[in-house]
Amino acid sequence: MNINKIMKTIENPPSELEPVKQMFPENTQQQIMEQMFRFIEFEHLYESAIREVKTKLEILDSEFRTKFSYNPIHHIEDRLKSPQSIMEKLRRKGVPFNVDAARANLNDIAGVRVICNYIEDIYTVADLLTAQDDVNLVSRKDYIKEPKPNGYRSLHLVIETPVYLSDKKEHVHVEVQIRTIAMDFWASLEHELKYKTDTEVSADLAAQLRECAETIAATDVKMQQIYKTLKEIN
Ligand code: GTP
Ligand code: MG
Repeated sequence: MNINKIMKTIENPPSELEPVKQMFPENTQQQIMEQMFRFIEFEHLYESAIREVKTKLEILDSEFRTKFSYNPIHHIEDRLKSPQSIMEKLRRKGVPFNVDAARANLNDIAGVRVICNYIEDIYTVADLLTAQDDVNLVSRKDYIKEPKPNGYRSLHLVIETPVYLSDKKEHVHVEVQIRTIAMDFWASLEHELKYKTDTEVSADLAAQLRECAETIAATDVKMQQIYKTLKEIN
């Protein structure tokens, strides 16, 4: 959301605010407007946190390139949760609609996805990132060691990173998902199938998807071994 959008909302409140008012009937229009103003600052803060984390990752990757002629990171993606999905998640959690509640209750407003070449790169990147002085690890879920029942694999971290503003320093939560290209291939298509097709995935198709995840995981292990063998020869 940008300042122009907010100005438009102020100029024309009834129609623009209707969906928000319906979601949060307990808030007055003025309260909602105040919150929307704070949302601009809030989005800037989370956007900045994404940039901080991406820079940290890019520096680590380029250092590896310089020292070892090798990049552990294939590429990085990021996304800022939209105001619409922030509101929906707050409502789902039964939390009031305000930026303080969002900051306290949602860890995935800022999301960074790191796509690595090999499995071991995932742990290298995670360890180096969380070892930095100004990075606090809030939570860590290893869906590689313990995949989800559907076959989903990734390392999920929630980290806290400082953002320096003109008058203060803010600690901001960022969700970092780290996975291989192969894990990302599966997760992207599975997400597409789950959300883009309306039909319920049958038990048989779910089993087939899980089987694909296992095949991909085995391939990841094989590729890692090939890489290691070649590195030893050279
Ligand atoms: P959310 O409230 O949905 O964020 O879940 P959570 O707090 O339990 O976190 P979890 O670590 O389980 O998952 C967070 C994110 O990981 C999701 O928003 C997805 O981006 C990704 N993810 C988790 N499970 C799956 C899955 O089964 N398939 C795919 N494609 N992505 C997944
Ligand atoms: Mg999420």
